[in-house]
Amino acid sequence: MPRRHLTFRQLETFVTVARLGSFSRAAEALHLTQPAVSIQVRQITESVGLPLFEQTGREIRLTAAGQELLRTARELDDSWNRFESAVDALQGLKRGRLRVALVTTAKYFLPRMLGAFCQRYPDIDIELEVANRARIVERLRANEDDLYIMSFPPEELDVVATPFLDNPLVVVAPASLPLPAGPLSLADLAVHPFLLRETGSGTRKAIDRHLAASGLSLKVKLALGSNEAIRDLVASGMGLSILSRHVLDDHPEQEGLRILDVVGFPLQQPWSVVHLRQKILPLPAHAFMNELLSAVSPANPGE
Ligand code: PGA
Repeated sequence: MPRRHLTFRQLETFVTVARLGSFSRAAEALHLTQPAVSIQVRQITESVGLPLFEQTGREIRLTAAGQELLRTARELDDSWNRFESAVDALQGLKRGRLRVALVTTAKYFLPRMLGAFCQRYPDIDIELEVANRARIVERLRANEDDLYIMSFPPEELDVVATPFLDNPLVVVAPASLPLPAGPLSLADLAVHPFLLRETGSGTRKAIDRHLAASGLSLKVKLALGSNEAIRDLVASGMGLSILSRHVLDDHPEQEGLRILDVVGFPLQQPWSVVHLRQKILPLPAHAFMNELLSAVSPANPGE
């Protein structure tokens, strides 16, 4: 039997026809035309030298040779899977260490993704560092981790940065504060005290940039390094704030908060996954980065 003519693709097509008992359903499942499926089955039949299917009425059934081929194709599939795992293990994807440093606002979604990754690769150890942007940039400069998640990749360092998810910043007020519903301007709100993130945080950098561009200043009553503390202080009526939407629940009103409709808001800036350009990324870091980029909807930095 001229087995060098057999291809994995033909085998896959044959297995799909056998599994679904129909050429047309197999064509649909494989996103092929029915003639393409028939041709591949004919080619594989010619290589084997015996019919693989027999037709009884509208049904097709495997012949004895077809059953042998199906069993063999499944064994080949198992062997190939074992081979892929062996290659993964040799390359170190199954084992090893993944070091990710992220800005505080990203901690509301990233650990969930890391959790799924850990389940898939239980032998990869994860080191996670959460800090404000200034501290994350220091770590990047010192090459302490594999990957970094942040909004403003530092321009002074030679990095590769890929935006992947929007991090909208919204204006929040205590739900109890009587304010008109319609679009407000930040200048209208400047009479109220604000609680903002500390200098050095990416959130604060985005706010300061916006204020500088619009020639406004806010009465900053308190600057602090915790998104949660700010959120709770706003809910208690202490003032207004500008926070990442990710810091708030799906229903902020249930937490005593209201997202205000303010002209120019939300401030949009995407988070990027960043690494030093000259860094040779270990396989776990590659795998996680690919997962991150394919799992979330692509960010649109221009919006
Ligand atoms: P931060 O960073 O947690 O330091 O505010 C936010 C960001 O870079 O998006």
